[in-house]
Amino acid sequence: MPDWKVRRAPIIHTELTVPGDKSISHRAVMLASMSNGPCVIRGFLPSEDCLCTASAMRALGIKIEQPEPDTLVVYGNKRTFQAPERDIYCGNSGTTMRLLAGILAGQPFRSRLTGDPSLTKRPMRRVIEPLTQMGASIRAEGSGDRPPLVIEGGPLKPIHFFSPVASAQVKSAILLAGMFANGKTTVTEPSQSRDHSERMLEYFLVRPVTDQLSVSIYGGQTPESRDFTVPGDISSAAFWLVAAAAQPSSHLLVRNVGLNESRTGILGVLVRMGAAVREVVENDDAEPLGTIEIRGERLKGTTIAGKEIPNVIDELPILAVAGALAHGKTVIADASELRVKETDRLAAIATNLRAMGAQVSETEDGMEILGGVPLRGARVQSFGDHRIAMAFAIAGLFAEGETIIEDTECVATSYPGFEQALEKIMSTETQKSQVPVITSLPAS
Ligand code: S3P
Repeated sequence: MPDWKVRRAPIIHTELTVPGDKSISHRAVMLASMSNGPCVIRGFLPSEDCLCTASAMRALGIKIEQPEPDTLVVYGNKRTFQAPERDIYCGNSGTTMRLLAGILAGQPFRSRLTGDPSLTKRPMRRVIEPLTQMGASIRAEGSGDRPPLVIEGGPLKPIHFFSPVASAQVKSAILLAGMFANGKTTVTEPSQSRDHSERMLEYFLVRPVTDQLSVSIYGGQTPESRDFTVPGDISSAAFWLVAAAAQPSSHLLVRNVGLNESRTGILGVLVRMGAAVREVVENDDAEPLGTIEIRGERLKGTTIAGKEIPNVIDELPILAVAGALAHGKTVIADASELRVKETDRLAAIATNLRAMGAQVSETEDGMEILGGVPLRGARVQSFGDHRIAMAFAIAGLFAEGETIIEDTECVATSYPGFEQALEKIMSTETQKSQVPVITSLPAS
């Protein structure tokens, strides 16, 4: 895929939808595969990451049809899987590898999980430890407990695990393993991470029990096959939300988007920064979904830290861009998890913002951005990370001159169609007034 060339955009006056939620798509395929019959999953995100999960399930003997790119028919096999004939390739997807490790921990066979160079650098101790406590044998072939993972599954015993990180992937891996354990498995987190697994288990009539920061599951239950519709991904909408929020007098509607409270932290942050935001929940079956309306303003800096971090973990790259476009200081703290994402996102954000002329100082667990300095177009890298590529494409909409984003192939892992949406936002045909953007004031 060629580099992207981004230029200033007209004021946004539009409405759009975004592809299906990545986290929910992974979980829908996994739970449907464990269910007792066929499940139609609509609104599935046909991105590389989620397709890796579907291929993994096929490798484990599950029949999955894909009549449309965003529709899967998954034939659940009552929690029974076949030993895979070869390695299971998880691509770039941490969610695939960690959640799958939970399922495989409880299977009476050996499997080996591999990934791309980025996934091969990501920490797996966080799932190896609890799953080993439950009785699985897991060996990380990479140094420092990194992939590939060789899993010898078998009968599991229930545990109560106190996770040192607020991670939905860790929580979900343990809950999925808990489905194969004999008794009650509990995970307690230091603060609330996204709760899609709990909601989806509930939807498939497997009852998890939630008590503040703890979730428990009783093993031995088979999910009841049901059809499921995946809402649009708020983490993909985030790029357009910031593009609109940071442009005074813009107006954007995002329809059919997931509004799960463990994911909508970005809306609160943008409100604090001065944007006018409204959200309307229109349906709340398994997951709340609806419309977000946003009007742009001159944004001001804010602090994003503490318990808010897990709720905006995937939005921090684009919120850092919002910070650079806002007046005053934006502080991101308690976000050291960003160092172990698809790339070291703190370093990548700081490098790219500086290349565009922003004032940034990186800290161990975050950064401080002195916003309001006009951005200038630059050649920036994606670092092989989809969210870095997309965040800096949005920064380019606000910069003087042309911005070039290198290595944009990675965007296919989460947002097929982003480039077309970007072209539409940049085109003057669909929109009228060709005025940028942020006028800058020196930070006070
Ligand atoms: C995800 C959880 C988050 C998030 C990732 C998807 C999930 O990771 O960053 O993009 O689907 O459970 P952590 O669980 O590592 O925080």
